[in-house]
Amino acid sequence: MKFTASFIALLSVVPFAAAQVAEWGQCGGIGWTGQCGTTCAAGLTCTVINSYYFQCLPGVRPLECVPPPTSSVPTSTASSPGSSPTVSGSGLNADAQAAGFKYFGSATDNNELSDTAYVNILKVPSQFGQITPANSMKWDATEPTRGQFTFTGGDQIYNFAKANGQIVRGHNCVWYNQLPSWVSNSGFNAATLTSVIQTHCSTIVSHYKGGIYAWDVVNEPFNDDGTWRTDVFYNTLGQSYVAIALNAARTADPNAKLYINEYNIEYPGAKATSLLNLVKSLKSQGTPLDGVGFQCHFIVGQVPTTLGQIMSQFVATGVEVAVTELDIRTTTPASTSALQQQQKDYQSVVSQCKATTGCVGITVWDYTDKYSWVPNTFSGQGAACPWDQNLVEKPAYQGIVAGFQ
Ligand code: G3I
Repeated sequence: MKFTASFIALLSVVPFAAAQVAEWGQCGGIGWTGQCGTTCAAGLTCTVINSYYFQCLPGVRPLECVPPPTSSVPTSTASSPGSSPTVSGSGLNADAQAAGFKYFGSATDNNELSDTAYVNILKVPSQFGQITPANSMKWDATEPTRGQFTFTGGDQIYNFAKANGQIVRGHNCVWYNQLPSWVSNSGFNAATLTSVIQTHCSTIVSHYKGGIYAWDVVNEPFNDDGTWRTDVFYNTLGQSYVAIALNAARTADPNAKLYINEYNIEYPGAKATSLLNLVKSLKSQGTPLDGVGFQCHFIVGQVPTTLGQIMSQFVATGVEVAVTELDIRTTTPASTSALQQQQKDYQSVVSQCKATTGCVGITVWDYTDKYSWVPNTFSGQGAACPWDQNLVEKPAYQGIVAGFQ
């Protein structure tokens, strides 16, 4: 187990001074109006019976706070119809929680939610306890024109997750990519760009206030050589844009964990060192920062064995860490031996996170090869996810299960 018994006991009582629910009492679900942070009485676990009814049953796992949507977010709608497929074993999220993690989750995208077979796997809480929108909370999706916000896509995924008792990671506030030209090409001076960042971050974070577990507030600030990425934010404001965004996000939702999310920091090198130094600097200045996301876009046979070690260096600065975008690609079509190596690779990532105190969860960057971003970016590469194109579990699935043991 990752957490000590005393820490688990602490979790169950500390976040909210809320009422205790007796055995068989309701503690969550769609339409439930009880207070967020309600805890089951000692010895009981808030258990998902179905999307509409969470109940306090005998057990020892602490209740995670799954607050109802704020009033600005449309009412939850039921996920797609159809029966769910059988879950292999306990389910990846159940295995993750049994191992002391907060969640095992997946990214998804709006167009995928019309695929019933896909949704019938994604919506199973014992399989996925957390959802990240892959695109629909990004700047181009939420503020395509200055001051005109749209949350249609983000709300659809948010409500899907809430309907299924899944927590949500917000992705993302400030990133050089998928950034409208009105931000990147307008020639804003420092004062105006500061205001633009503050308005954007505070508006999107406020919209989901109380309902998001963590936000990737700043995404990919560094180049691979450890120098700052020279996007409009850095070129105009220097590194101060990071604190501007984090402070705006904290004010907008004091309960959301605020993350910096980055790739190619999973092994020692200039990029990991630069981010570590940034995190230390932000912490020493009192800038709000709660977590660092390790994206973990890996290649079969090349998964770094240093992941846990690097994560621990970040945890030592006072932040939590998470695997936020895991996939492990190979040449397609994937050979049998590549899929066997991929199984070991997934196990390695999970077990390194499990061995790291402060690694709170793992998110795959979509669970199926059917919707992976990889083939669109790396020609001839793919097969990176734990489920194949036909939504069939690959050996990687058992690698994840083994990693949690
Ligand atoms: O929305 C347009 C659509 O209108 C148009 O018809 C279509 C034509 O290609 O493109 C659509 O936009 C695509 C968008 O995904 C939504 O599907 C973009 O072309 C495509 O480039 C974009 O790719 C996304 C990529 O980020 C952009 O950099 C991937 O789906 C998304 O999975 C990926 O996610 C990133 C994380 O945010 C950050 N870390 C790396 C990760 C993988 O690249």
